[in-house]
Amino acid sequence: MPLVSMRQLLDEAAKGGYGVGAFNVNDMEQIQAIMMAAKETKSPVIVQASRGARQFAEDLYLFRLIQAAAELNPEIPIAMHQDHGNSFDTCKSAIELGYTSVMMDGSLKEDGKTPASFEENVEVTRRVVDYAHERGVTVEGEIGVLGGVEDGHGAGGSGLEHITDPDQAVEFAELTGVDALAIAIGTSHGAYKFTKKPDGSVLKMDVLIAIHKRLPNTHLVMHGSSSVPKDLQDIVNQYGGKLKETWGVPVEEIQLGIRNGVRKINVDTDNRLAITGAIRKVFAETPEKFDPRDYLKPAREAMKKVVAQRMVQFGQAGHAGDYAPIAIAEIAKGYADGSLTTQPLVAAR
Ligand code: 13P
Repeated sequence: MPLVSMRQLLDEAAKGGYGVGAFNVNDMEQIQAIMMAAKETKSPVIVQASRGARQFAEDLYLFRLIQAAAELNPEIPIAMHQDHGNSFDTCKSAIELGYTSVMMDGSLKEDGKTPASFEENVEVTRRVVDYAHERGVTVEGEIGVLGGVEDGHGAGGSGLEHITDPDQAVEFAELTGVDALAIAIGTSHGAYKFTKKPDGSVLKMDVLIAIHKRLPNTHLVMHGSSSVPKDLQDIVNQYGGKLKETWGVPVEEIQLGIRNGVRKINVDTDNRLAITGAIRKVFAETPEKFDPRDYLKPAREAMKKVVAQRMVQFGQAGHAGDYAPIAIAEIAKGYADGSLTTQPLVAAR
């Protein structure tokens, strides 16, 4: 199956009432782990690469690996997504490579650190939307600012500093025409999200629900959505790691989000933890080994297990065969003739 439009994948998820995990990749083993999980659970999937990942792996290596994944798994719809594009040029280069979706994170300035004004965000996001839709490519925008830093991208600080304002979310969706909207509800990138199991004072599910009420048909995106499970932390620490006690986003909160318009859920940290724990275990238990396959194989298996579990929990499992992919050129026509709407349905307050 060719790479599919993320818009199609999310529209289908909305029809089916489920969420789709968007898993970050940097290398072949991570891509293989995702595909093994998708095959096992029969899931459509979003694979995403940050700017840091594109630099680390070199664009062409990474993209060719994704193409191989699509060729080897014709029954699985795969959308390839640029995570946290910091500028028009970053998004343009991803589109030129063949990514079927981009995130223009205009919530931050181009330095990827300083919060941008609403007007700046709208302007750069709108520009990316015009360019991308002409080419059938999906666009995710962000309103409000996530906490933490990932791959050098992020405002830092706690996730509570720039919670999304529902009225602004409506205005942003109307002015930009984005296909998917990332919102800030208290989560942050990385392992250290919460110092105890989060409640409504730090994880603002009420804000998410308020945004969904105003924008009932908009595909919402939850970033920083690793659950940072204790068993994964424990394996890392048992074999010499030094993680401090921490909490992530409980899966039941993500499921509440999915019942309230969340269609894309970003997960990176849980997979990093699974990989690191598995590698540490091999190193600690069999220090005589030095063939990378001896630790990359269990690492890949550990990530596959986490991804498969999330696919079931998010509800995407079993949906790979629900639809045939629409060619990207057809998607472009859909945007041009208005059959693929970019104006959100807005409900009164
Ligand atoms: P986590 O760090 O919670 O996995 O979040 C990843 C993410 O949001 C990527 O954009």
